[in-house]
Amino acid sequence: MLGFRHVALLGALVGLVSADCNPLNTTTTCPADPALGTEHTWLFNSTLDSKLWDMQTGTLEYTSEGADFVIKTENASTLLVSNFYIFFGIMEAHVKMAKGAGIISSVILQSDDLDEIDWEWVGYNTSEVQSDFFGKGNTTTSDRGGFHAVANADTEFHNYTSYWDKDRLEWWIDQELVRTVNYSEALTVYGKNYPQTPCQVKISNWPVGIPSESIGNIEWGGGLVNWSDVPFTMTVSKVRVQDFHTGKEYVYNGTSGSYESIEVVSGNSTAQAEIEKQPAKTLAQKWADLGTAAHIGVYCGAAAFAAIAIAGFVFYCLRQRRQGRLERALGEGQPQAPDPTEMETYKKQWRQSDWATRRGYQAVGQ
Ligand SMILES: *[C@@H]1O[C@H](CO)[C@@H](O)[C@H](O)[C@H]1NC(C)=O
Ligand SMILES: *[C@@H]1O[C@H](CO)[C@@H](O)[C@H](O)[C@H]1NC(C)=O
Ligand SMILES: *[C@@H]1O[C@H](CO)[C@@H](O)[C@H](O)[C@H]1NC(C)=O
Ligand SMILES: *[C@@H]1O[C@H](CO)[C@@H](O)[C@H](O)[C@H]1NC(C)=O
Ligand SMILES: *[C@@H]1O[C@H](CO)[C@@H](O)[C@H](O)[C@H]1NC(C)=O
Ligand SMILES: *[C@@H]1O[C@H](CO)[C@@H](O)[C@H](O)[C@H]1NC(C)=O
Ligand SMILES: *[C@@H]1O[C@H](CO)[C@@H](O)[C@H](O)[C@H]1NC(C)=O
Ligand SMILES: *[C@@H]1O[C@H](CO)[C@@H](O)[C@H](O)[C@H]1NC(C)=O
Ligand SMILES: *[C@@H]1O[C@H](CO)[C@@H](O)[C@H](O)[C@H]1NC(C)=O
Ligand SMILES: *[C@@H]1O[C@H](CO)[C@@H](O)[C@H](O)[C@H]1NC(C)=O
Repeated sequence: MLGFRHVALLGALVGLVSADCNPLNTTTTCPADPALGTEHTWLFNSTLDSKLWDMQTGTLEYTSEGADFVIKTENASTLLVSNFYIFFGIMEAHVKMAKGAGIISSVILQSDDLDEIDWEWVGYNTSEVQSDFFGKGNTTTSDRGGFHAVANADTEFHNYTSYWDKDRLEWWIDQELVRTVNYSEALTVYGKNYPQTPCQVKISNWPVGIPSESIGNIEWGGGLVNWSDVPFTMTVSKVRVQDFHTGKEYVYNGTSGSYESIEVVSGNSTAQAEIEKQPAKTLAQKWADLGTAAHIGVYCGAAAFAAIAIAGFVFYCLRQRRQGRLERALGEGQPQAPDPTEMETYKKQWRQSDWATRRGYQAVGQ
């Protein structure tokens, strides 16, 4: 079972991300890697900030519980890549794997020179997750994979966390440590194949069970994909990423690819600035921002308005009552036909009352 491996993920992801510049290639100069420089948790149930995350292949479908990475048609795949890098750190992903032979769900850290730290779910086994790592894209042996039991990995979110510093790599499932790899041990060729350069977060649901893959990869994936079973859906509810360095960006000094050769350029991380950017404010937030003094002012204004309105109304009512009494007094023993002069007086009084009321309204409104 440990036999085959792993050109698959590298092949597939490198294929999808072919534009990357390898800093160990002496004939090229690559741009600096923008640092995350902080820690942040992204909830995947609303649209991700495209300045921080790049959906390079396929599209995300958001639901209240997270983002679905869906394979809907033959050979389709999905790939989300962070625009930021971490230089040692923690990645915590809450994931439901996609089920189906030949389908691979993966959450990895990968650097420009192809160091890699992986979580991979192979779609035919929904009771397992695999851990793996690579140094400088070295796939000459396939003996680094770890296999870890997880219950209902396709229907329940679990917490898959990778911890990565210069001394060791750890894989945690639901807060339980399931694997450790030290910087210097046989499996890392005593550090040479230890992941140690700034990495991006890459999240993908993709098919390995297709004829163009090697027989070994297809077997690893559990055979060819049955395309009548689409869609194949992987769901991510949230991702926490912590960068162990702070600064603006990471630069390779030379082509050794060792962590000692990585220069941490000081300054402000643009990713951090983007994260801390103020979101558009709601009316309630704007109200809260006004402060107590302003609130009292507005309440007083409203109270004044109410008081003047009530005063106007009372004035009007009193006038009406007095007018009513006068009319009754004058009307005793008189014919019912209205007196024209009385009507004039009445209208005039009514207009005055009306004016008094409206003046109150306008005074507050101004
Ligand atoms: C190095 O970069 C050059 C120019 O971009 C490219 O042609 C070559 O294939 C690269 N070599 C490797 C080993 O990546
Ligand atoms: C996203 O998930 C969080 C935490 O579960 C929840 O508080 C929030 O309301 C959700 N947002 C949406 C848009 O569903
Ligand atoms: C690749 O890894 C193998 C062991 O996994 C090791 O023997 C070999 O030296 C490595 N190659 C390079 C170029 O590091
Ligand atoms: C699925 O993974 C579990 C845990 O690693 C393992 O015990 C089981 O044999 C696997 N099932 C298949 C069909 O490979
Ligand atoms: C996920 O697991 C990591 C490692 O154990 C832990 O630090 C983190 O608090 C866990 N997250 C949640 C939400 O429980
Ligand atoms: C890793 O290092 C720890 C001590 O830091 C040691 O206890 C453990 O045996 C080492 N593991 C391997 C596989 O070398
Ligand atoms: C999918 O890829 C395979 C090669 O792996 C190819 O033979 C097949 O025609 C492709 N199908 C579609 C619909 O593109
Ligand atoms: C593919 O899936 C369909 C529907 O689930 C099923 O009827 C068919 O037998 C499967 N084909 C193979 C080759 O397993
Ligand atoms: C790059 O490395 C060389 C030799 O290791 C060192 O002298 C130089 O100061 C480094 N440059 C930077 C910008 O760190
Ligand atoms: C970095 O941010 C701080 C605080 O926001 C600011 O005072 C400083 O000028 C910024 N530095 C640069 C180089 O932009």
